[in-house]
Amino acid sequence: MTDYDSVDFFADASLLEDPYPYFDHLRSKCPILPTPYHGVVAVSGYEEAAEIYLNPDEFSSCNSVIGPFAAFPVPLEGDDVGDIIDTYRDQLPMYEHMVTMDQPMHTRERSLVMRLLTPKRLRDNEAFMRRLADQQIDEFVARGECEFISAYSQPFAMLVVADVLGIPEEDHRRFREGFGLGASPGAIGDEGEGMAANALGWLDDEFAAYIEDRRREPRGDVLTDLALATYPDGSTPDVTSVVRTSTFLFAAGQETTARLLAVALKYLSEYPDLQDELRAHNERIPGFIEEALRIESPVKADFRLARRNTTVAGVDIAAGTPVMLLNGAANRDPRLFECPDEFRIDRPNAKVHLAFGRGPHACPGGPLARVEGRVSVERILERMRDIRLSEEHHGPPSDRHFDYEPTWVLRGLHKLHIEFTPAGASE
Ligand code: HEM
Repeated sequence: MTDYDSVDFFADASLLEDPYPYFDHLRSKCPILPTPYHGVVAVSGYEEAAEIYLNPDEFSSCNSVIGPFAAFPVPLEGDDVGDIIDTYRDQLPMYEHMVTMDQPMHTRERSLVMRLLTPKRLRDNEAFMRRLADQQIDEFVARGECEFISAYSQPFAMLVVADVLGIPEEDHRRFREGFGLGASPGAIGDEGEGMAANALGWLDDEFAAYIEDRRREPRGDVLTDLALATYPDGSTPDVTSVVRTSTFLFAAGQETTARLLAVALKYLSEYPDLQDELRAHNERIPGFIEEALRIESPVKADFRLARRNTTVAGVDIAAGTPVMLLNGAANRDPRLFECPDEFRIDRPNAKVHLAFGRGPHACPGGPLARVEGRVSVERILERMRDIRLSEEHHGPPSDRHFDYEPTWVLRGLHKLHIEFTPAGASE
């Protein structure tokens, strides 16, 4: 029996397989609760997390990815540490990415992404996704089994971002080969050292070449739009900023979406009735995807740093406190979601989940991820029948086991072995 009062979320691998009882324990004590580790205050309630996401004036995003391991060169002392944060934030890992920025820099950088993810671009991208889904399935369907994450969800999620950015299809193979090398941030027991390394360094070079080329010789393609995009005040970002924005989309949009697709397939495999239901009623697939995002939110923990002494839902939070927003806990808050541990595709309020965050940093890739989920499930159900979990790898139904990614940032299956009958094979 785990003693949840002394468990260290950042170092204890026993929480990986099923963190939800721990989250329930935190919430039952208080939805905003100081923990004994790294001075972190854990937020496990829905309303409380939403309130903090929506208050960037009081809560800085400078530590959003590295959480409590944001090491400032001076102590964060006093009733207001806003000036210290702003003076030293560029010494923190990931400082150059929008997810760690605060206003006004954040608003400026985010505008570049919003120019890219336009409704038209997303429509064009959906056509590519359908082709890509079938190409990926073609690679393994005849075998009747696969490890779904490496065979489908990772290459799919990566190439969808490549297409959104307008990477020519002839270069996709090179991108596919380049990925899969970097370590994910937030490894259990890793006190932040690994995060300073730029795992996407090779991508920066690729993108710098594209952007410089399109600035020299505009071609009327998406990369040209990206290269020539301006900030809201009309000024042109330097090449480095555009490159960062582009490469960050891979970091933000790949592993997260790959884990969403994996969890969707896990539920489909466990519940054959669900396969029949969604095959017969494609229009229910978006609701299924929302529920998958709610029940297994791919971003497990997001962070903020309190700028000033403040109070949320009656709980005092001191300036300089790292605040851990547990999306996966908020999304199972029974005050909002009835029987929160049950997977229900017709849950009326599933879509209000916090899996994409909330407020000024809310995930701009949410609409894209949702379409990736819908298109993938549609194509998989069309091409594969009787999808089931491999008992060899995951055990019999009465005794299933799964390995999860060893990180405190992401919630994701490490492997998902499935078996199925190729559509048409036995009909
Ligand atoms: C299921 C898939 C995804 C999940 C669960 C997810 C989750 C999140 C969350 C929780 C945030 C907020 C971070 C914060 O407030 O600190 C975020 C931000 C972000 N996401 Fe996603 N994301 C997903 C897919 C994508 C995709 C496909 C893209 C783009 C291709 C993307 C791009 C971004 C970017 C650029 C940010 C930073 C936004 C900002 O700081 O203003 N994400 N994501």
